[in-house]
Amino acid sequence: MTTEDRKRQVKLRSAEWFGTQDKNGFMYRSWMKNQGIPDHEFQGKPIIGICNTWSELTPCNAHFRKLAEHVKRGILEAGGFPVEFPVFSNGESNLRPTAMLTRNLASMDVEESIRGNPMDAVVLLVGCDKTTPALLMGAASVDVPAIVVTGGPMLNGKLKGKDIGSGTAVWQLHEQVKAGQISLHDFMAAEAGHSRSAGTCNTMGTASTMACIAEALGTSLPHNAAIPAVDARRYVLAHLSGMRIVDMVWEQLTLSKVLSRAAFENAIRVNAAIGGSTNAVIHLKAIAGRIGVDLELEDWTRIGRGTPTLVDLLPSGRFLMEEFYYAGGLPAVIRRLGEASLLPHPGALTVNGQSLWANCQDAPIYDDEVIRPLSRPLIEDGGICVLRGNLAPRGAVLKPSAATPALMKHRGRAVVFEDFDDYKARIMDPDLAVDASSILVMKNCGPKGYPGMAEVGNMGLPPKLLAAGVKDMVRISDARMSGTAYGTVVLHVAPEARAGGPLAIVREGDVIELDCAAGRLHLDVPEAEIARRLADWAAAQAVDPMDASGYRHLYVQHVLQADEGCDFDFLRGKRGAAVPRHSH
Ligand code: FES
Repeated sequence: MTTEDRKRQVKLRSAEWFGTQDKNGFMYRSWMKNQGIPDHEFQGKPIIGICNTWSELTPCNAHFRKLAEHVKRGILEAGGFPVEFPVFSNGESNLRPTAMLTRNLASMDVEESIRGNPMDAVVLLVGCDKTTPALLMGAASVDVPAIVVTGGPMLNGKLKGKDIGSGTAVWQLHEQVKAGQISLHDFMAAEAGHSRSAGTCNTMGTASTMACIAEALGTSLPHNAAIPAVDARRYVLAHLSGMRIVDMVWEQLTLSKVLSRAAFENAIRVNAAIGGSTNAVIHLKAIAGRIGVDLELEDWTRIGRGTPTLVDLLPSGRFLMEEFYYAGGLPAVIRRLGEASLLPHPGALTVNGQSLWANCQDAPIYDDEVIRPLSRPLIEDGGICVLRGNLAPRGAVLKPSAATPALMKHRGRAVVFEDFDDYKARIMDPDLAVDASSILVMKNCGPKGYPGMAEVGNMGLPPKLLAAGVKDMVRISDARMSGTAYGTVVLHVAPEARAGGPLAIVREGDVIELDCAAGRLHLDVPEAEIARRLADWAAAQAVDPMDASGYRHLYVQHVLQADEGCDFDFLRGKRGAAVPRHSH
């Protein structure tokens, strides 16, 4: 069927607003015309929303007005009518207590903005960590044609002529200051070269991971994940995405046709190959829940484990996103997986109308150090390690590529922090009863306990052990961890302590066993004793006054546990693009 045939067949959603010559059509068009829009713009052109997370308080997305201009050029060239609109911009670096607290809020903003407005399709401008899942979640619940355009990573950070990676450098340099290995002056000097261009974190942190996942899911054009923010080719991609979304309207290529179960399985495999963030487990589950795909924690074991990590980027490896793009970007990784029969669903559809494999099968690979061959992977067995046991009945996760292999099977005594404040108050204490074999346990940092589930799971080590040369310890919590962080860190323990999970009753000196190969996280305390402690814990609980009103009240009442993606219970599912009844 030709595009002209399709144009005759497709009934534009926006015609419900602008397609009539009555009172309603008059009102919808007339107010829009105050922006200088001529009459012919309303006569059958697809109206394309550009959902913009621009904000000067989200520095990673602060260049998005320029990006939107290039998307508009593409839409106009293809015969569409672009309308840019803002949504809540949850930036990782400034927003307290954590940008995760407002991921679901942003997704509600996106969903209702799309459904309630005259749009036939939407371009999602995303970048900083939570903006990618928030916009995909919101758009998935409406299920219009949608295409992701990411802002792109920053150029490599620089310190004393050497590359430094976003976030990862902060963790490393901070530990070095605490251990007395570098001066405070050098630590502060790193600040200026750490974030020296527009764009998102340049490590394989959560922003880069989610950009790769959006590409692996098929929701963006090839190479969207890695082109640097300041590279002219980023703006070419924005232009081409603007052109493509117009055709997607005529093809009625809605998100649910792209976000199939096959797409999610491809994304899980790709996450292993790139050494992606543990946050991807939560975000993919939440996106899948919006589009009706049933994803389980065990899918990460079944599909992801055993996959070699090929991308040699910090925090697991050596390089940064700039090198990743120059080496061939995500299409090169997908080609490597496909050639080794490790791409679960090569035929999965992507937004350009081609299959993922068709897009990537001939992708050039320019650097075998950055994108390793299968014969020489960075990590033999990447992916996400899913743990279960009496300490995490509904699961927990660990990122093997960021962990110390020798610690991935470990038995040690717990040093327990009741919450993040308790940790901060005691970790510097030279008398803290801790040694290198101890396991640091932190409670009350899960979705409800530290509303938003802060990225504090990679607890810094006690200074006295750092000074003695200890580089890593087993750490366990119900928190998340920044994708830029590293260590043998067990995260997302579910149920969380605040929800009455067994983590709540771990005591100082209890023995804990971690066995990643067996997927086991065990509290070596008799079951009757665990039950007695849990009963005492339940009797002592009271409502935190901070959770009694406002958005936090809604959040704590409705947030799901980590194994369910931390979405709100009432937001799961696809509510569709049916046009709401007008009110005038
Ligand atoms: Fe925005 Fe890392 S803080 S991408």
